[in-house]
Amino acid sequence: MNGCQASKNFWLKLKKPIYALAPMAGVADSAFRQICKSFGADVVYSEMISAAALAYNSKKTLELARFDKKERPYVVQLFGSKPEHFAAAAKIVEKKIRAQGIDINFGCPVKKVLKQGAGAALMNDLKLARRIVEAVLASTDLPVSLKCRSRAGEATAVDFLKAIKDLPVAAIMIHGRSMAQGNSGKVDAKIIKQARKYFSGVILANGGVKDKKTADQLLVETGADGIGIGQGALGKPWVFEEVKSKTPSVRGHSVSRRGIMLKHAKLAEKLKGRQGIIEMRKQLCRYVTGLNNASELRKKLVKAENLDDIKKIFNFQ
Ligand SMILES: Cc1cc2nc3c(=O)[nH]c(=O)nc-3n(C[C@H](O)[C@H](O)[C@H](O)COP(=O)(O)O)c2cc1C
Repeated sequence: MNGCQASKNFWLKLKKPIYALAPMAGVADSAFRQICKSFGADVVYSEMISAAALAYNSKKTLELARFDKKERPYVVQLFGSKPEHFAAAAKIVEKKIRAQGIDINFGCPVKKVLKQGAGAALMNDLKLARRIVEAVLASTDLPVSLKCRSRAGEATAVDFLKAIKDLPVAAIMIHGRSMAQGNSGKVDAKIIKQARKYFSGVILANGGVKDKKTADQLLVETGADGIGIGQGALGKPWVFEEVKSKTPSVRGHSVSRRGIMLKHAKLAEKLKGRQGIIEMRKQLCRYVTGLNNASELRKKLVKAENLDDIKKIFNFQ
């Protein structure tokens, strides 16, 4: 398969620089992705989805991967360690979930994932990593993208790209931090810049972007085709509007900020009920960053169970 890449490859149609919502487990659910899309995210990634669970038809996992058409183009990110699971999961993503792209996780540093030989562990087993990419490519006509780290142990992003450079991969998001760094600390822009020599598809640089200044800086330093934004979008989905605009943020005002938060919470409750609000608590706390009474609000927000609780906290009727 992967014969129709050119016609189905939405990556080729996106205007550069491309601003993507990076995959974030436990946070980047459909409600959040829709809100980020409404502020101009060019492409949104799912939370990481177990290839094995999809392959074995887990209803819960299928639900986790579902999306709304407003999110298009939507990419489902798969993690796992067995090519056969990826092959089966890729077919489900294309035929049942009907996403626009499939991404493969080569960057997760979480112990539970590494123990299975998945995520960033695969950067240290490049033969298996390549077999996984081949298995996905052979099972779908959707564009296939990859997400890796600047480094995992001895292996760098360049070593990783060398191992797959002859395969028709559409895009790669390179998180400029090593596996050991996790999700904080200095970003290695140099290695992302070097990636261009070994990869002709779309390159997204990722790590530390939280506003227009940091986005522009990472684009200049890496020469990438776009940026993946993760934590910088938490409690600040309008970051996409900000990085695309020519002027500084227009969302500084606390009233509009609360309005956006409420819209997000409404959607979260509609899609997931009480669970949606509980999962959103951390983000609710981020939304109030910078407000005078932020710490008072946070104490209440961490206990919110539904939309009414949130409205009461903010004195909304
Ligand atoms: C809560 C959280 C969950 C994440 N989940 C995933 C995931 O499922 N798949 C993945 O490839 N990366 C995941 N990441 C990493 C992000 O996609 C991104 O690479 C990282 O946060 C660095 O970008 P940032 O500095 O813009 O946040 C996660 C990060 C966070 C903070």
